[in-house]
Amino acid sequence: MRVLGVETSCDETGVALYEAGAGIRAERLASQIDLHAAYGGVVPELASRDHIAKLLPMIETVLAEAKLTLRDLDAIAYTAGPGLIGALLVGGSLSSSLAYALKIPAIPVHHLEGHLLACMLEESAPEFPFLALLVSGGHSQLIDVAGVGRYRIIGETLDDAAGEAFDKVARLLGLPYPGGPQLAALAEGGDPRRFALPRPLKNQGLDMSFSGLKTAVHLTIDSCRGAHGELADAVRADVAASFQAAVVDTLTAKCRRALETTGLTRLVIAGGVGANRALRASLSELGRLVGARVYYPRPALCTDNGAMIAYAGWCRRAAVTGAPRIVAKPRWPLDELTPPE
Ligand code: KG4
Ligand code: ZN
Repeated sequence: MRVLGVETSCDETGVALYEAGAGIRAERLASQIDLHAAYGGVVPELASRDHIAKLLPMIETVLAEAKLTLRDLDAIAYTAGPGLIGALLVGGSLSSSLAYALKIPAIPVHHLEGHLLACMLEESAPEFPFLALLVSGGHSQLIDVAGVGRYRIIGETLDDAAGEAFDKVARLLGLPYPGGPQLAALAEGGDPRRFALPRPLKNQGLDMSFSGLKTAVHLTIDSCRGAHGELADAVRADVAASFQAAVVDTLTAKCRRALETTGLTRLVIAGGVGANRALRASLSELGRLVGARVYYPRPALCTDNGAMIAYAGWCRRAAVTGAPRIVAKPRWPLDELTPPE
């Protein structure tokens, strides 16, 4: 069975072809970074227009690379939410129209379920059940995953998502949007012990909070500025490293507590912040310490991509019947999902 995956929930157009038994046959990703950089963040209307311009040519490229045509597809999976409504509608309407014309199912996929299941595309895929740390631009959650569609959120952020904190602090340091990866690069050359930043809620429960940390960074930066508001390069790197250490430290403590309270022995990292090298190293160390096995998708499968949507769609193929429908839900809590059977 061959499923085309279409991701258009935010600022990246992702298309991939997943084939059961063969894995990812071809994939393409188009980033809109250049488009939004001048505005310091995603401009929804520009995002939608860019998805419209890129999507069909990308589908053609992916099919050509896999040496297939539209007629060879068995289903089209698309991100139905959560995300920007205009962007979702582009992927949903194009996917559903194509599926209608081809007389194949269109499968609406929950974006976060895509992230959660991305690890299954790797050679060493985890078995269920596992604990997932889902850290993206819009979400930070600890999820007890018993199977596809069997998700229990056991901890989440009370304010900013981890990725959002990375992006906001990057902005404070004058780094261009999207700041997360650039802040991580800057942190590589900095001293993580230079500034003692808070680790909010670190020793308490499974919920997270990052907005106080962001404020502490803001105050730290202001106290280090020179007479003309300038910030020395070494200070910027040290702030970046100290901030990253605070986030990594907190997330690691939360994962440790979640593993202990659930008794789960597998930990899966999902979402864009999962690409962060310091976080991956710290969670590997945690795994060694507590005897848990840690699974990471490769960085390109942590950030938004079409392959995870194709795969999640494939998992839900049996639950989809009837004519293709355009589903677009900007808000869609993950624990509303039910198993596909
Ligand atoms: O999962 P994702 O690609 O999109 C959402 O669904 O939100 O996550 C994007 C987030 C952004 O906040 C980005 O800055 C962050 O992930 N991110 C990183 C890294 N790569 C991406 N944060 C820290 N270190 C990274 N290497
Ligand atoms: Zn995402």
